[in-house]
Amino acid sequence: MLNKSLDSNIQAANDAMPAGKPVTNPLPPLQDRHGRTFDYVRIAVIEQCNLRCTYCMPEEGVQFKEKDMVLSTDEILRTVELLARMGVRKVRFTGGEPLVRPDIVDIVARTVATPGVKAAHLTTNGLLFPKYAKALREAGLHGVNISLDSLDEGKFEEITRRSGLNKVLESIDLAVELGFPRVKINVVLMRGFNEDELIDFCELTKDKPITVRFIEFMPFDAHQIWESGQHFASAADLCGQIERRYPGITTASGTRTEHHIYQAPGYAGKIAVIPAFTRSLCGNCSRIRVTADGNIMNCLYSEQPYHLKDLMRQGASDDDIVALFRQAYDEKYKDGFEAKKAASIAAKINVSDINRSRASMTQIGG
Ligand code: GTP
Ligand code: 5AD
Ligand code: SF4
Repeated sequence: MLNKSLDSNIQAANDAMPAGKPVTNPLPPLQDRHGRTFDYVRIAVIEQCNLRCTYCMPEEGVQFKEKDMVLSTDEILRTVELLARMGVRKVRFTGGEPLVRPDIVDIVARTVATPGVKAAHLTTNGLLFPKYAKALREAGLHGVNISLDSLDEGKFEEITRRSGLNKVLESIDLAVELGFPRVKINVVLMRGFNEDELIDFCELTKDKPITVRFIEFMPFDAHQIWESGQHFASAADLCGQIERRYPGITTASGTRTEHHIYQAPGYAGKIAVIPAFTRSLCGNCSRIRVTADGNIMNCLYSEQPYHLKDLMRQGASDDDIVALFRQAYDEKYKDGFEAKKAASIAAKINVSDINRSRASMTQIGG
């Protein structure tokens, strides 16, 4: 597998972020005992979604939280402001589907105006994006990651259990046309579903200035298809297929999630592979997660929530909230394997069964 020089490439990606307003009352940065600094927060703003992807949730019977169980707009903004004072520069809104939340444009605009924040991003399934795209661009959104797992209408419907491929394709073109600085496609690559489309997806980068990213399938699928053991394709395997198809392909600059990133000779965009399950990216982890129901999670594979929303609603001071984030990151394990092992010990269940307790990705926001 080709290797990139990670630090220099991440530096290049960070340099490309807008300047933002400076923080006037900074706090010490958020760090952990493994020497990592956390400067990127992912906030899930809603659990609801307008699709029912087989790798994420069941067709029916999903119990979503009541409205007052999710963070309010003011609570989200207070969190962003405090984190920005602790050195967070990048904020991503996820879900569920964040565009289902009616005040999302306002949340983005206020985030962009927060001192210290350099860039706000959104991860969306693209169905509602055409409706909000212009307003989001005007609000100052920097990047949009659009989930799309098939370029074939029939397969799209099989995976998402809804129609709408044309809307998603329209969203990708619209995002490029409107000049969002970062436009990416997230493809969860699954054997037996869409592995045969790997090269078709790569070819989208020929003319479009976008990054197409293949994500390893993870066991957060509400017990839908992971357990058959048939659908997982590893990052090493996907990288091998890409490198064989494009002789002369070179490595490129990308974010920390884009552990493997390439550009085919003469192509406008980039191709990345995200080792979400094999977890070779953990040493470079810089992410803070806030779930839709208002808990801090210090790792995607952790089962230990830190109750941010409850603390805020008990009238906590800024110092109390900062202390909760510091505790969460002080207690962060070195990688996703350790986090998963700790969760299995706490729950007294076998380590291979631990992800059964987290039903779906919507609960943690991807
Ligand atoms: P960029 O900032 O553009 O790199 O986006 P991102 O990858 O951080 O965000 P996005 O919401 O697009 O995430 C895409 C997918 O990457 C997630 O759903 C996960 O599958 C995977 N991913 C993101 N962060 C992590 C992480 O901390 N650990 C692991 N294991 N996977 C992650
Ligand atoms: N495995 C890998 N990625 C997943 N996502 C949702 N569920 C899974 C899963 N089980 C991805 C979506 C989206 C991102 C936020 O999370 O495709 O791109
Ligand atoms: Fe960070 Fe955990 Fe993701 Fe690894 S699995 S990159 S430690 S959040």
